[in-house]
Amino acid sequence: MKVLILGSGGREHALAWKISRETNIEKIYCAPGNAGTYNVAENVNLDIMDNDLLIDFVKENSIGLTIVGPEAPLVNGIIDEFEKNNLKIFGPKKYAAMLEGSKVFSKKIMQKYGIPTSRGEVFSDIELAIEFVKSNPWARVVKADGLAAGKGVYVCDDENEVINAITEIMQNKKFGDAGNKILLEEKLVGEEASFLVFSDGKIVKPMVSTQDHKAVYVGDKGPNTGGMGAYGPAPVITKELHNYAMEKIMLPTINAMASEGTPYVGILYGGLMITKDGPKVIEFNCRFGDPEAQPILTLLKSNLIDIIKSCIDGTLDMQDVVFD
Ligand code: AMP
Ligand code: GLY
Repeated sequence: MKVLILGSGGREHALAWKISRETNIEKIYCAPGNAGTYNVAENVNLDIMDNDLLIDFVKENSIGLTIVGPEAPLVNGIIDEFEKNNLKIFGPKKYAAMLEGSKVFSKKIMQKYGIPTSRGEVFSDIELAIEFVKSNPWARVVKADGLAAGKGVYVCDDENEVINAITEIMQNKKFGDAGNKILLEEKLVGEEASFLVFSDGKIVKPMVSTQDHKAVYVGDKGPNTGGMGAYGPAPVITKELHNYAMEKIMLPTINAMASEGTPYVGILYGGLMITKDGPKVIEFNCRFGDPEAQPILTLLKSNLIDIIKSCIDGTLDMQDVVFD
């Protein structure tokens, strides 16, 4: 079978590396790829936001499976478009990908279904948001609703910082329309971990827990960046916390999405804060983490292509997902 991987990060290199070691793989393409994927795949210079172009490429080259690395094509509805053309592709559909694509949508799902998360309020009016901050000192985190390339979150220390962040997002339109709505959140304290699962829309199978080094400088200093590396298993995720995350967070979220009529097929990535009151969801992502994919895929003993196919076919219960 021929496989197409979309993206250009360390995550996509890890995916291509893992798949290149599996059986019955005739060829791997990576669009657009990078110097790492060059060693194990053929890089093709395609715009991963152009669904029609990708569909033509997949048909012309008889590609049997497409795997989407980053969130933007998922939120752009690539899964829906491929499925209309009867092409096999892995990831959540456009509406389900809103769990990452809209922080407001995600918070509302968590609030409606009692999934542990921080307190939060949604605003589309700047005056009301500032008013709220002045009378609710717990609101110290400001998030642009839409995708902002991982930069749309302000974790603040005082009221002034919060008001500046609101002004940046809503008035100065730092993230364009992604900031038409904002979410004001309570600041959580604890250690962060990435908890990822595979899902076929009905059940979930966990991956090894991981942690990424978020800050750009040595010693966890400086602003958050795309990720300076990751490791797993995460020591902070004990057996008890693992069970709690599965039973109170990951499975209930998959069930919630099915109840909403938008079953979630793909990878669900829970960004968890391990607080003194237990794990709480900071955010959901609808894809592998980058760089978390690197430790996860090097530790995965099972065949990734088989897992992905079982997610798409709704037979994940029959599939082993084993980590070293
Ligand atoms: P996100 O873009 O949602 O991943 O947020 C970026 C980072 O901001 C997270 O990885 C956390 O380090 C931090 N963060 C987000 N929300 C909160 C919160 N409610 N409390 C404390 N830190 C947060
Ligand atoms: N490592 C953070 C992310 O993938 O969003």
